[in-house]
Order: sequence, then C-alpha cells, then structure tokens
Amino acid sequence: MTTVLGIETSCDETAAAVVRRAGPGAPGEILSNVVYSQIDDHAAYGGVVPEIAARAHVEALDSIIARALAEAGTTFGDIDAVAVTAGPGLIGGLMVGVMTAKAICAAKSLPLVAVNHLEGHALTPRLTDGIGFPYLLLLVSGGHTQIVLVRGLGDYARWGTTIDDALGEAFDKTAKLLALPYPGGPAVEREAAKGDPKRFALPRPMKGEDRLDFSFSGLKTAVRREATALAPLTDRDVADLCASFQAAVTDTLADRVERALARYRAEVADGPADFVVAGGVAANAAIRAMLAETCERHGFTLHAPPLNLCSDNAVMIAWAGLEHFDGGETSGLDFAPRSRWPL
Ligand code: KG4
Ligand code: ZN
Repeated sequence: MTTVLGIETSCDETAAAVVRRAGPGAPGEILSNVVYSQIDDHAAYGGVVPEIAARAHVEALDSIIARALAEAGTTFGDIDAVAVTAGPGLIGGLMVGVMTAKAICAAKSLPLVAVNHLEGHALTPRLTDGIGFPYLLLLVSGGHTQIVLVRGLGDYARWGTTIDDALGEAFDKTAKLLALPYPGGPAVEREAAKGDPKRFALPRPMKGEDRLDFSFSGLKTAVRREATALAPLTDRDVADLCASFQAAVTDTLADRVERALARYRAEVADGPADFVVAGGVAANAAIRAMLAETCERHGFTLHAPPLNLCSDNAVMIAWAGLEHFDGGETSGLDFAPRSRWPL
C-alpha cells in the first residue's frame, strides 16, 4: 500500500490531496481532494497577478494540507511520500509549495517527489480510467496546448504545440476584450450557448497543415476586429462572437486531432486506441462533444477526466508522484522549482 500527499501551487489554485493504491497495477483511490481557488483574489485584475497568488498560497497552504489529511482520515504517519508541483508555473507559487513540501519531508523523514505539473494532467486518466501505456494526449490549459505521445512513465514525445497563445489563454483574452469576467473559458462557453456560431466567419488557424502545431493569436485578433467594428456591442453581438469563436476553435482542434490520430495509427501500430484530453479547457462541453465524435469515428476511446480533475488540482500531482515513487524514483531535498519545465 502506498499513500501519497500531493501539493499544487503553480498558478491560482492552492490544493492538497491524498491518493492511495495497493501496489503497481492496482487501481488508485482518491482519499481527499481539497482545492482553494483564488479566483476572487484575481478577478478585479482580469487575470492572475503572480505576487498576489504567491502571498495567497503562503496564507492558505498549511490549512489546506491539514484539511486534505483530515478529510482522508490520515495523519503524516500514514503518508509514504510527499509529491509537489515543482514546475512549470509561476515561480513564486512554486517556491511556496516546494518549500512547504521540503519542510514536511525534513520534519517527518519522508521522501520528496518533485512532479511536473503537465505530467500530472497527462497521467490523470491512469487513475480515473486505469488505462495503460501508450496513449495519445491532447493537453489544453491556460498555459499549454500540446499533442503528446505518452509512451510510458516519464517517456513523452511532443508532436505538436502552440506557436503563440495557449488555448485557455485565447479563451481568457477573448473574454477580456468582450468585457466578460475572468476566468474567460467558462464565461465564453456560457455566452456561446446563447449565440449564433455562423454569424462571424472567423479564421481556422493551421487547419489543413501537416505539422501538428496550433496557433490562436490570429483568431483572437479577428474577434477584436469584429468587436471594434460593431462597438458598442449588444448582448447578442457578444453571444454571437463567443459562439463563432468557440466554433472556430473546435473546428481547428478537430482538424489537428484527426491528423494526430492518423499519425498514432501509423507510428504506434499495435498501440491501444486510447485518446486522452486533459487541462482546464477540457471542461468545455462543445470541445468534449467534438472529441467524442472524432474519436468514435476513428475507433478511439476518449478518456476525459471528470471536470474537477481537469482543472488544476493536487490529486493529479499526488498520483503522478505515487507512480514515480512506486517506480523507485524520488527527488533530493535540494530539488529547485522550475518556472519552465517541458514534459
Ligand atoms: O489546467 P488549468 O486549470 O490551469 C492551467 O494549468 O492553466 O486551465 C485553466 C484554463 C483557463 O485558461 C480557463 O479559461 C480554461 O482553462 N477553461 C476553459 C473552460 N474552463 C476553464 N476554457 C474553455 N471552456 C471552459 N469551460
Ligand atoms: Zn494545469
């Protein structure tokens, strides 16, 4: 039996969780999942302010960890290892999490596992759906947009990435220029549900290109151009712009994903047909529906984590840490947080 405490402070969620499994190959069990969202602290600024985030993590983290242990019915004595997000992310927040994890490890004589935040997102479906390796991953979050071949634990090949904005960032920037609240993704999705996706003919960046990269800044600029031409915007204009933006994004993603599925079939001929979507944008219902349809058409099984495990959380960090710990990998107490840390 392995029980791991996970800590996540890379952006604007202060989170701690306890995850357990009987042994390698056995299913994992989430004993607790505590997330304190700082959204209210940042909403007035229309985005995450790193300095405010770091200070809020300092204030909240100790009690969040205590709650995660209590809700799991555990004490530090039951914990086998402490897993902490060590990057990529905002360096101030990462330092708070890593310092706290190191202090616990030093005081309680526990091993530390430094976890890559992206790997946390990537491995979540192994906990929720029990899938094996390899699989194809679409990671769409506020900071990252990547198509990754997950060959094994710690063995990742990046097949495509964004050449400018991340997808979540494009949602957030579009929301901001339409004066919608932060975070933008859920706000744009809500408006899009009321709007006409055909009213504005927005570009489909990269569509039809062979390489599996993404580009979203031109799309955002096109929304700005339409919005400027129409100003002042009515509620209908905003809803139609959101619907047209979301349709363009979904269409572009579908094209990239189809190409990725074909490449997976060609290069990983005997690999299981498992496709995983992860990251905060995976909460978008229109994108999920498109992925479900695309996967079904190509004979793939879509694995989309439940919404609370798509956005940032510490369960995914505890789980990634547990997989490494069970594989005999731990980190030294001198491990330094890294604001940039590619998968
Ligand atoms: O993975 P995540 O929680 O944090 C990062 O690691 O970035 O992702 C947050 C991003 C934000 O950009 C947010 O606007 C976006 O995910 N997001 C959404 C939705 N919910 C959150 N984007 C589109 N539709 C949504 N429903
Ligand atoms: Zn994330």
